[in-house]
Amino acid sequence: MMKKKGLIVAACWAMMFASCDDGRLYEKPVIIPEEGRVVKLTGRLTGIGDWANGYNVVVAGFTDDSDYAIISKSVTVGEDGETEVVLSGLGDEVQRVEFCVVNRLRKRILTFQKADLQPTDTIRLEVNSMDVGMYATMQKQLFNTTCTSCHGASTFAAKGLYLTEGKSYEALENVPSAIRPDSMLVNPGNATASVLYQVLANDLDATLSRPHHEMISTQEVNWLTLVRDWINSSDKEYAE
Ligand code: HEC
Repeated sequence: MMKKKGLIVAACWAMMFASCDDGRLYEKPVIIPEEGRVVKLTGRLTGIGDWANGYNVVVAGFTDDSDYAIISKSVTVGEDGETEVVLSGLGDEVQRVEFCVVNRLRKRILTFQKADLQPTDTIRLEVNSMDVGMYATMQKQLFNTTCTSCHGASTFAAKGLYLTEGKSYEALENVPSAIRPDSMLVNPGNATASVLYQVLANDLDATLSRPHHEMISTQEVNWLTLVRDWINSSDKEYAE
């Protein structure tokens, strides 16, 4: 009798922790129901801990017509550096599973990998080695796709600004702007004072020979908010 009671208490604790999903820092007990479809993410991931507050790297289930996850689970890295996350209990309404970043409201911010849901029991998302940090993701999904064509991918870098991988960070952080020498390109902790942000927001557009705002305003990801939050948090240290 005592033993059974103990088990019920343990189960309640497990449920309380599982439903609290702000915490990339917490180890969550895994509850595996007997039936239902399951997603399994495996890989060697780095950088999860360097996302700004309010962002969460997760495995999540969506319907096709909503950006809000119906179900999600934080991704954590084991001591050996390997990640294995199992998200179970996917209801019939879930049409798509993603390895992605969501905000506090579980709204999808950006996607690393996705898969349509199969009627089979286990869907696998395999990602090998990947840096999923906030800056690394901006580099890959924003700078590399939208900026480096003019900022350093060829022999040409507009205003001498290299946004290419391996160079961009040193070229931005605490570096004076060429078009506004009184300001830094990135002023850590202060997005609105940073020319990188001002160029992408509408603020400086009228004064630029190249409009920058429209390069990002048509994209699915809200890069302006992400760049802002990255700059505003870049004066803080995050635990891995
Ligand atoms: C089509 C070419 C082109 C693309 C693509 C482009 N830029 Fe630029 N960028 C320029 C030019 C030209 C300038 C200088 C503007 C001026 O002098 O009026 C500039 C200036 C800048 C500056 C100010 C540099 C300084 O030192 O003051 C920043 C920051 C910047 N770009 C960031 C970006 C980012 C981030 C992206 C991608 C979202 C991007 N650029 C995409 C051409 C481009």
